[in-house]
Amino acid sequence: MRILVTGGTGYVGSTAVDILLSQGYEISILDDCSMGHADSVPADVTYVEGSLLNSNDVAEALKGCEAVIHFAGKSLVGESVEKPDLYHSVNVDGSRILLDQMYIAGITKLVFSSSAATYGEPKEVPIKESAETVPTNPYGATKLAIDQMITEESKARGLSAASLRYFNVAGALKSSRGWLAERHNPETHLIPNVLRSTKENPVKIFGTDWPTADGTCIRDYVHVVDLIDAHIKALQSLTPGNHEIYNLGSGDGYSVRQVVAAATKAIGYEIPTVDAPRRAGDPAVLIADISKAQHKLGWVPTLDIEAMVADTLASFN
Ligand code: UFG
Repeated sequence: MRILVTGGTGYVGSTAVDILLSQGYEISILDDCSMGHADSVPADVTYVEGSLLNSNDVAEALKGCEAVIHFAGKSLVGESVEKPDLYHSVNVDGSRILLDQMYIAGITKLVFSSSAATYGEPKEVPIKESAETVPTNPYGATKLAIDQMITEESKARGLSAASLRYFNVAGALKSSRGWLAERHNPETHLIPNVLRSTKENPVKIFGTDWPTADGTCIRDYVHVVDLIDAHIKALQSLTPGNHEIYNLGSGDGYSVRQVVAAATKAIGYEIPTVDAPRRAGDPAVLIADISKAQHKLGWVPTLDIEAMVADTLASFN
């Protein structure tokens, strides 16, 4: 089966490409490389360097495919607060074009990268898929809008779809072409920032007055390799006209200070930090209830926060 991987040069997308190829899938990639890296594209894939906002590029990339895994999109909470128009354009308009072109091409299988940011500040943790969705930032609002479009599309046009609501993805994969890891510029994610912290440029702790035990935000970290395993299981479980939503996390929460402690243990010296004001758009606590993915997909996350920190650290060398 040939799968179109949108965003296949980015951190999560390139990891998916590597794992899918190793399992015998054929791959096409559509990416404008705005966040990703063309050097991560393996030789044996069809690569269309183009935009989701260009119907011709999307139609070209869909040729010969039976399914789509849709990773492409803007994904930074802080940036989305500053540039909501960019997030609505790339994420929502781009996904609309993808859905239309899939319909024209007769492609009915879709796995979509949604986000825990769709829930906003949760009333209850761990968060179930049935929880209220009140995003606290434009990024989450765009992911929710796309989830809603996919639900409508599955009812109206028989699309078979799964939206996977990621909590905090971390870790790296050592492939035959070297480490596939976070290579964002600027890097905003906690684990790489903690591991790169120096006395001259210490990692900022965004908010120490949150309503949590140590005053810092709590997140649920899931290893990128476990995350991709869930995508493959979701793809294999799709049923016509049905749109399922699954949370993907570990089911456990770690505060920012607990992540710093895990990184300190891995790196072997005290990591310098500096207290900073809260970051706009951040909810205090996000922890997934992953029982739906466990029961319906038979998915079990296997790699813990220590593995995520160790793999990220190893990927720097
Ligand atoms: N943080 C810091 N210092 C940093 C970076 C982050 O204190 O230098 C804090 C943040 O304020 C937050 C936590 O660490 O409390 C995690 O922040 P990240 O930037 O690593 O991740 P986010 O929780 O903001 O967002 C990530 C993805 C989103 C996704 C979300 C879902 O980037 O796409 O997880 O939980 F929606």
